[in-house]
Amino acid sequence: MAEKRKIIIDTDPGQDDAAAILLAFGSPEELEVLGITTVAGNVPLALTSRNARMICELCGRQDIKVFAGADRPVKRPLITAEHVHGKTGLDGPVLPAPTMALQEQHGVDFIIETLRREPAGTVTLCTLGPLTNIALALEKAPDIAPRVRELVMMGGGFFEGGNITPAAEFNIYVDPEAAQAVLKSGIPVVMMPLDVTHQLLTLKKRVEAIRAIGTRPAIAMVEMLEFFERFDVEKYGSDGGPLHDPSTVAYLLKPELFKGRDCNVEVELESELTVGMTVVDWWQVTDRKHNAKVMRHVDSDGFFALLAERFARV
Ligand code: RIB
Ligand code: CA
Repeated sequence: MAEKRKIIIDTDPGQDDAAAILLAFGSPEELEVLGITTVAGNVPLALTSRNARMICELCGRQDIKVFAGADRPVKRPLITAEHVHGKTGLDGPVLPAPTMALQEQHGVDFIIETLRREPAGTVTLCTLGPLTNIALALEKAPDIAPRVRELVMMGGGFFEGGNITPAAEFNIYVDPEAAQAVLKSGIPVVMMPLDVTHQLLTLKKRVEAIRAIGTRPAIAMVEMLEFFERFDVEKYGSDGGPLHDPSTVAYLLKPELFKGRDCNVEVELESELTVGMTVVDWWQVTDRKHNAKVMRHVDSDGFFALLAERFARV
């Protein structure tokens, strides 16, 4: 059997973050979750840190260490998304308050310490929210950049445009300076933009396949999805909403589900109109260096079949 991939999940739960975490927990043969670091994003840090622990306990994974990270972007004031995720950030199911404690260590220091301890090239960062923690870790410990095996991020958008502004996707928009720092770091980046995640719609039949699993985690996941999708169904008039974050973990499990190409990606930092936009040189019209594998196509039925299969194991 192939070597398990060691991952750190950096997250701002968030119902779709929860789906990514359940997918990771349902794949213990392939993935070893070294820890979860939380960041302010969908909701403030106190709530993302509470939600991450509630998700772990929902899955019976009190063994997982959860570290609180940055409570605001590196430079800008925090922008949150309660309008999408509800005031708790995990609206939908009624879940008990967490009993497991947060780790004392700051999430940024956990990332640095883990990358320095584990053999170089063996730890993957799976980022589901603004990239603040990663940027702060790189600033504090530039030596960790070459030690990262890969950074798989949910973030950005190009052909699909933006979701929080016409030009910018939320995770990048909240902390564009952090995103730019990561993209300039030399870390091998795999980018899951809205161009992919807008193909991953929580169609009724897909949600029913998860409900049919019948376990408490699966039912809670359905309740999260039914809450989470209402905003996008309203906005896009689609059957179901885009399920963004699990695309990152699905890539680690079945990369063949995705198609994309190596590109240069830069982030707009100045313009009021387009700040946070990920400018993807998809047609290679500049000589700017490739710094990300940008995904554009996905087998969405294969993706949801993987989710249903792995959720059943949680
Ligand atoms: O734009 C979608 C992203 O923003 C997802 O990660 C969602 O959880 C929110 O953080
Ligand atoms: Ca997220």
